[in-house]
Parts: sequence; structure tokens; C-alpha cells
Amino acid sequence: MAKAKLQTLRGMYDLLPEATTQADYLIGTFRRLVEAAGYGRIETPMLEDTALFVRGVGTETDIVTKEMYTFEDRSGNSVTMRPEGTAGIVRAYIENGMASLPQPVKLYSVGPYFRYERPQAGRQRQYNQLSIEVFGEAAPSVDAQGIILAERYFRTLKLDGVTLQLNSIGDAACRPAYRKALVEYLTQNKSKLAEIDRDRIKTNPLRVLDSKESKTKAVLAEVPQTLNYLCADCQAHFAGVLEYLDAMEIAYELNPLLVRGLDYYNRTVFEFYGQREGAQASLGGGGRYDTLVETLGGVSTPAFGFGIGLERLLLETQAAGVLPEPDTGKRVYVASIGEPARMASFRLIEELLNAGVSAIGSVDRDGIGGQLGRASKLGVPYVIIIGQKEVQEGTGLLRDMTNNAQETIPLASMVKELKNRFGV
Ligand code: HAM
Repeated sequence: MAKAKLQTLRGMYDLLPEATTQADYLIGTFRRLVEAAGYGRIETPMLEDTALFVRGVGTETDIVTKEMYTFEDRSGNSVTMRPEGTAGIVRAYIENGMASLPQPVKLYSVGPYFRYERPQAGRQRQYNQLSIEVFGEAAPSVDAQGIILAERYFRTLKLDGVTLQLNSIGDAACRPAYRKALVEYLTQNKSKLAEIDRDRIKTNPLRVLDSKESKTKAVLAEVPQTLNYLCADCQAHFAGVLEYLDAMEIAYELNPLLVRGLDYYNRTVFEFYGQREGAQASLGGGGRYDTLVETLGGVSTPAFGFGIGLERLLLETQAAGVLPEPDTGKRVYVASIGEPARMASFRLIEELLNAGVSAIGSVDRDGIGGQLGRASKLGVPYVIIIGQKEVQEGTGLLRDMTNNAQETIPLASMVKELKNRFGV
């Protein structure tokens, strides 16, 4: 019987060297910007108690009802591959006593998450987020600083045309009145809603607002809007956020239908959208979550954060052509001709690497033409050629690939020569 071919699971992908180099550039740029703004890195486990996400993300969310990788471990505990990062970081904040640190506590994280979604371009079952969280500061300046940080990131990447959508969904004081009005309106129009949204009226009516169903969308044209139901405190908070964004000339669109797929948010919510044709939902999003720390067993602590999808950002930056070319500027290729040159070339490659000079080459490969071809495909600026004559003389030919000029250099000073030329 033929063996079944082994391959990645549906919705999961290998990241190959070119893509990892690009991803590392995106991650490195993110780290530089968030660290400059005072964020420290936190990494929490991939696997957590299932109850953390059920309580944190919300029992009626899509994530909890149908997207989690949940299983029993060998001791019979229900554990879940983290579908998102905020709940785990809040757990860590509480568990590590970070409430006693000077507030605000500013954290960032980079890593993989798991959601059993229907895969398509930009939607995977394992994906990565670049995220920040700020704990212990309720002021609207925190929301604005966070949003501007994301905006600065896109700007630094030279990713033009990312749009910001913004809304306030109120808090425990004003949400009940809004919810009541919303449920009333949806119930009156129930027969016109898509079936899936009819069911949501009872379970999670706010989610109906960002329904993708065309039947439902028609009903939403006149739906009550959260902004008209905000209490005075939420109104003042939102006005504060907008004032800071305006002061920094950050463009945004108010989207009264914007709600998020996770239940922990209150007040400010936002999402960033890219320009890719048929872009799969948002590039990133977040908001304030002032009750989550308490919900998960900590002392009441205001909080704010966002997450950006690394794979979606990769697609967006690839399409926009803003990723830097791989840097081959400081690498030398050692070409060896024939058996006598084998050991000298082998040694030279190791000595160059020992001295911190990037060097490649295959000593067991014959044919100078093939080796030079490979070197020029790799885009290296220099090739060192060692043949029988050079071995006898204790030299190597240093070839400048930009103009094909060649110079004979003693092997003993080759490392120094390359270090000089590369300035390393
Ligand atoms: P989220 O909106 O669910 O928020 O995810 C954040 C970002 O992760 C999305 O905008 C998207 O770019 C990316 N993403 C989500 N699911 C997938 C997927 N299946 N495939 C590819 N990319 C995906 C959160 O998870 C919140 N924890 C963000 C946050 C941090 N809020 C406060 N702090």
C-alpha cells in the first residue's frame, strides 16, 4: 500500500528563507519602534487553561464557539492553543504581580496563534501577531499613543494607504441601553436578517453590526449607533482620543458599525485596513479593555492594546513592493578549482567566518564557470578564486564582481583584506 504523503495541515504554512527574512525585517522594525516608546517584551505560553479564553474572549464569540484548538492533556485537563494574546498577557500581569509595578505597564509580544478558521489568503489556522498592551492608565492619551504607534509603524514601513477605522462601543454604564435599543431594532427587522444573524440577536447582538451577510447589511443602514448612546464619561473619553489624533493629524474614519470579534472591549475600538485587492479583513485592530483584568481575577485595572497580523502585513508589504532587498553587500564567495585547492579553500572559508566575514562556497564543486555563475546569482560583490597555481604560490585571486577586475593577494592577508573592504 502506498504511504500517504505527509504535508502541512490545512491552513498552516512553512515560512521559507526569503519570507522569514522579510518577516524578520517587519518584526525588527516593530521591536525598534515599540522599545523606543518604552514597551518591554513579554512572551506567554502557547498552551493555556481553556477557561482563560472562555472567560476572557467571551462564551458567545466565534473564537470560543468554533475556532479553538482545544484538547485534553494526558492528565485530563482541558487546554487550548492560544487563539489570541491578550487573555494570556492579562493572566501573566495578574500572576506575576505586575499591578505592584509603577503603572502604566507597557508590554509587547510577537508570536504564533491558532484559530480553526476557513483558510484563505491572509487567513490561516496558525498565524502570528505583533501586539502591544498597556496596563494601569485610563486616560484617552494612552489610546491615542497606541493608535499613533501603529500608524508610525505602517509609515516607517512606507506602507501608504493604510486606513484607520474608529468607534466607541461605550462601557458597562451605557452599553445596556444601547444593547436594548439594538435588540429592539433587530427584532423588529428579524425577518429581513440573514439566518445566522437572527440567532445572534439573543446571543451576541453587537456582532450583527459587522455581519458580512448582504441581507443583514441592508438592515444595518438604519441601525441604532453606539456613538448616540454613549454616557458622558465615554463621550468625553472618545472626544479626548479624537482630539489627540487630530492634533497629530492622524487620518481616521468613524465607523459606527465597527465592533470587534472579542468580547472584552469597551470604549475605543479600531481597525487598520490595507489596500490589497480582496484583503481578508483587517491588518490589525484593538481597543480598550478596562474590565478584563478584573474578569480574570485581578484588581480592577484599565487597559488598552492592539494586535497586527504578521502574515497579512507580509502580503500587504510584498504587494506594495516596500520590503528591502536581501543584503548581499558584505559577503564573499570562495571558488575553488581542482583537488589541490580544496583544503586551502576550505580553510579560508572557515577563517573568514571566524573573523566575522560572511563567506560561502562549495569546495567540492568543480568548474569555475559554474561557481562564478552561482556567485553572481547570489549577488556577492567579491569572489576569491583559488586554483592550483594559487595554492603553490600561497595566494588567491580576489575578483571584484562589479567590474571583473582581479588582484592577486597572499592568502595570509586575505582575511584582513576582506575585513578592510567590508569595513567589518
Ligand atoms: P484580532 O483582531 O482578533 O485581535 O486579531 C488581530 C489581527 O491578527 C487581525 O487584525 C489580523 O491581522 C490577524 N489575524 C487574526 N486572525 C487571523 C488568521 N486566522 N489568519 C491571519 N491573521 C489573523 C486580537 O487578537 C486582539 N488580541 C488584539 C488586541 C491586543 N487587543 C488588545 N490587545
